[in-house]
Amino acid sequence: MDIRSESLPDYAAIAEVNILAFGQENEAKLISEIRDSQGYIPELFLIAEVDNVIVGHILFSYIDLIGEESLQVLALAPLAVLPKFQRQGIGSALVEAGLEKADAIKEALVIVLGHPHFYTRFDFQPSVNYKITSPFPVPDDVFMVKRLQIYQKKYQEKVVYPPAFLAV
Ligand SMILES: CC(C)(COP(=O)(O)OP(=O)(O)OC[C@H]1O[C@@H](n2cnc3c(N)ncnc32)[C@H](O)[C@@H]1OP(=O)(O)O)[C@@H](O)C(=O)NCCC(=O)NCCS
Repeated sequence: MDIRSESLPDYAAIAEVNILAFGQENEAKLISEIRDSQGYIPELFLIAEVDNVIVGHILFSYIDLIGEESLQVLALAPLAVLPKFQRQGIGSALVEAGLEKADAIKEALVIVLGHPHFYTRFDFQPSVNYKITSPFPVPDDVFMVKRLQIYQKKYQEKVVYPPAFLAV
């Protein structure tokens, strides 16, 4: 398996991976809206390929953390692996590669709304442990943060997602 940043010829296959993984088109639409937004970070849109076929995709984009000051942090979403390639370590490899790149470009914090069973293995922890609150009425354990090397305590308070996320 290879992991690399996406490029324009990959867009259709990435949409297909998301549609098949989620069983709906919302995530594929969200990805395309993020690409057209100020939150787009091309090097943090990653694909996993097996025999030159795209089987997985992850992206990290900028969202805001609004407290005493407004800070940019990363949202991890969506993450998708083609159903017949799931449970083979591809999703984990994409998360690890993305976190490593995010650290390398000196990002401080990653936010995810997802399954604790999956994300705690990468040391994601409930955001409430760091005084970061979710904009969604969800249980504390599913709204998680991963602190990267340059994280500081000033990263607190309320996460604000761009409107495109609210449609998913
Ligand atoms: C979630 C997803 C990306 C994981 O990718 P993957 O390549 O199957 O993941 P890995 O093989 O690296 O890891 C598999 C682990 O993830 C866990 N996992 C996968 N989907 C899960 C889910 N919906 N809920 C809880 N755990 C899940 C598996 O139980 C497995 O755990 P184990 O190692 O303890 O058995 C993939 O299953 C997927 O695309 N699902 C549909 C889309 C989706 O729900 N994405 C949202 C992610 S928040």
